[in-house]
This record gives sequence, structure tokens and C-alpha cells, in this order.
Amino acid sequence: MNKRATNSSFLNERLDFNAKYSRADFLSWLTGHLSSIPFCTVLDVGCGTGAQAVWFGRKVLSRGKTCAFDISESSISQLKSSLPAGISVETCVGSMDELISVVKDNFGNIKFDLVHSSYSLYYARDINSVLEAMFVLLEPSGSLAISGPYETNTLLSFLSRFHDIPQLSWDCLKFIDDCVLPFCNKRFRNIESHIFINDQFVTDVNDFARFYRSATFFDPAAEKRVLKEVNSIINKDGCFHIRKNGKLVIAREKI
Ligand SMILES: C[S@@+](CC[C@H](N)C(=O)[O-])C[C@H]1O[C@@H](n2cnc3c(N)ncnc32)[C@H](O)[C@@H]1O
Repeated sequence: MNKRATNSSFLNERLDFNAKYSRADFLSWLTGHLSSIPFCTVLDVGCGTGAQAVWFGRKVLSRGKTCAFDISESSISQLKSSLPAGISVETCVGSMDELISVVKDNFGNIKFDLVHSSYSLYYARDINSVLEAMFVLLEPSGSLAISGPYETNTLLSFLSRFHDIPQLSWDCLKFIDDCVLPFCNKRFRNIESHIFINDQFVTDVNDFARFYRSATFFDPAAEKRVLKEVNSIINKDGCFHIRKNGKLVIAREKI
């Protein structure tokens, strides 16, 4: 797999860029929607450096258990070393492609009130198999929450003028509608979805360069031309506007 998809230093670069330039804060938006779900046991799949897992740990405290895993050792070690005092998150390194055994071997025979995955599920070898495994790990009254990129990504369209974009970058814009929603419609009674409008107004080409170099669609052969064009847009318009939306699906009441 592309090392930019799993290495924590690349993930940190992207998160820093989003924190600096996104008009709306994804974590506040996401947790606003998750707040209505009652949970004591939660599983975070593809947790990265813990952007959401720490929030889960804070919500659950001693009432239950927060479990989180990622395929990236560096992300899990950053999550462990940065946990705020008093917050407990059980972690392990593992692949969602072996979801059931990763959970059983590391967290025990446990079922969850909430299984969550943000911006990770599209890396699965087979998204439907992972969704099936998530379903098995849910309590009968449990909820599933999946988010990811959605439909609009003006940066990919811009970059496609300069180089090929990996197919996964295009496919992941559709995985919520193509895979997650059809699965949830079959397996749950109550489904809601929400769109995250994510505008970024980039004013510093060096910030953009760091972000671009950390992205899975980075192309070193085109870097100079891309940065020259972004710089000239910033000089002309005052900023380089990117819109990259997201979508969240929350499914409750297993059938
Ligand atoms: C864009 S990051 C999202 C991380 C976190 N959920 C967040 O929103 O900050 C995608 C994560 O998926 C992880 N990942 C990729 N393939 C995986 C797999 N097969 N199993 C588990 N995690 C995986 C990567 O290592 C990375 O941390």
C-alpha cells in the first residue's frame, strides 16, 4: 500500500493543513452527530493517530471501553504516547481486512454499542466484508458510523490537469453511496446521512506544498508545475480554493 496512506508523519501533515485551512472543523461536526448515540463500548477502525478515538475515550471514561486499531504502527504509538491523562483507549496494530480476529485477539470477546470508522474504510481490500464483520461485532442495539470523502473534490479535478490520479482517490469519493448505504439499507432499520461541506482557502503555497507531498495522489514528476500554478492563483486571487466534501452515515437498529 502507498506509504502515504499509512505513515503517521504524512497523516500529521494532512491533519495540520486541514486544521489550518478548513472553514469547518470535522471533529466538532462529526461528534455533534454522534452525540445522540448512547454508547459504553466503542470500536474505532482505522483510528490513525486518534483524532476521534480520544473523543470516544473522553466520552466513555470508566463507564465502558474504547478500543481502537490501525494498520500503522507509527500512528498507534503516537496515539498511545499522546493520550491525555485520565483517558483510556485500548489500542493495537492490525488490519481491518482481518477485523474479527484483530478484535478477538487484542480486545477479547466483546460486542460494541458503536463501531466507527472515519476516512479509512475505503482502504479495505473488500469493503463489504469489513462492513459484514463490523455488523457481527455490534450489539443488537448497536450503531454503525462511517464517514469518508464524498463526491466533490475540486483539488483532484485541478490536479488531473497535471498528472494521473490513482483510481482509489476517485473511487473513495463514491464508496459511501456505492457500498456503505446499500449495506446499511439491507441491515439496519434506521439510517441517516449527513454531508460535510469542507471549503479551504489556501493562502500560502508552502503549506500547500507540504500537504500535497503528504497526499496519496502526490506526483513528484508534476510537483513543480502544480506548485507554480497554485502560486500564481494565490498571487492573482489571494487564495487557492479547494472544496472537498465528506459524508457520514449513521445506521441504527440492526435487522
Ligand atoms: C486518513 S487516515 C484516518 C485516520 C483517522 N480516522 C482520522 O480521521 O484522523 C486513514 C487511516 O487508515 C489506516 N489504514 C489503512 N489501511 C488500513 C487497514 N487495512 N486496516 C486498518 N487501518 C488501515 C491508515 O493507516 C490511516 O491511519
